[in-house]
Amino acid sequence: MSLHKQVRRVTTHVLSAMKQKKEKIAMITAYDYSMAKIVDQAGIDVILVGDSASNVMAGHETTIPITLNEMIYHGSSVVRAVERALVVVDLPFGTYQGNSKEALSSAIRIMKETGAHAVKMEGGREIKESVERILSAGIPVMGHLGLTPQSIHKFGTYVVRAKDEGESNKLKEDARILEDAGCFGIVLEKIPAKLGAEVAKLLKIPAIGIGAGSDVDGQVLVIHDLLGITHEFSPRFLRRYHNLYQEILGSVQTYITDVRNVDFPNEKEQY
Ligand code: KIV
Repeated sequence: MSLHKQVRRVTTHVLSAMKQKKEKIAMITAYDYSMAKIVDQAGIDVILVGDSASNVMAGHETTIPITLNEMIYHGSSVVRAVERALVVVDLPFGTYQGNSKEALSSAIRIMKETGAHAVKMEGGREIKESVERILSAGIPVMGHLGLTPQSIHKFGTYVVRAKDEGESNKLKEDARILEDAGCFGIVLEKIPAKLGAEVAKLLKIPAIGIGAGSDVDGQVLVIHDLLGITHEFSPRFLRRYHNLYQEILGSVQTYITDVRNVDFPNEKEQY
């Protein structure tokens, strides 16, 4: 029987065993209690409380403005709903880049105040010391390489990363550094499929892709994109499983009409 069917709780050890058994890992973002309950009951392996909350929940253009307190609010709402999935919370921009001591105290706040199981951080060599320090406190860490949205102003655009040999070699080196530092997994965002496959092969820890091709150890998508709640964002890597934007719009328009026509509530809908 597949591992994901056997386990009652997904841990970092389960993810490592899934990689060894070549079982793909399914990861998705969630930011609130109600959505987290649905995705957990659907059988998702990992829930990422991503700093993409800054975009899809708060309406910011980038992930940069979201604060540690806001991430803790989202993280704790998700944790209250989850029975099976591993919950990973993003360390937001500005809470770990300064030094490893600051990184550790941010990670401790996330773990203590949300009840999550792990944290995620963007970067390679430059975060090695912080990863080691956070791990030394017993907190599992996930890395994030390729397109790292917290550095968007350095990149200038959201185009595919690591297309040239120099950047591709650096990404592979960073992946090895993160694995050696003790990360339990790495997200690879928007890189060529060939490079995604190479990195997944190079590492013993799972490499989870978002726009990194199919030959990685698992996939992650932002739930608002997958469900079609966001409808203006259409990168090539995104598969929309629904058009909730239109469905919600239609439902709310019908409700407005019903209220205006005094068609709602009807006799059965009142006391
Ligand atoms: O914040 C986020 O949602 C992420 C995913 C895109 C991997 O980091």
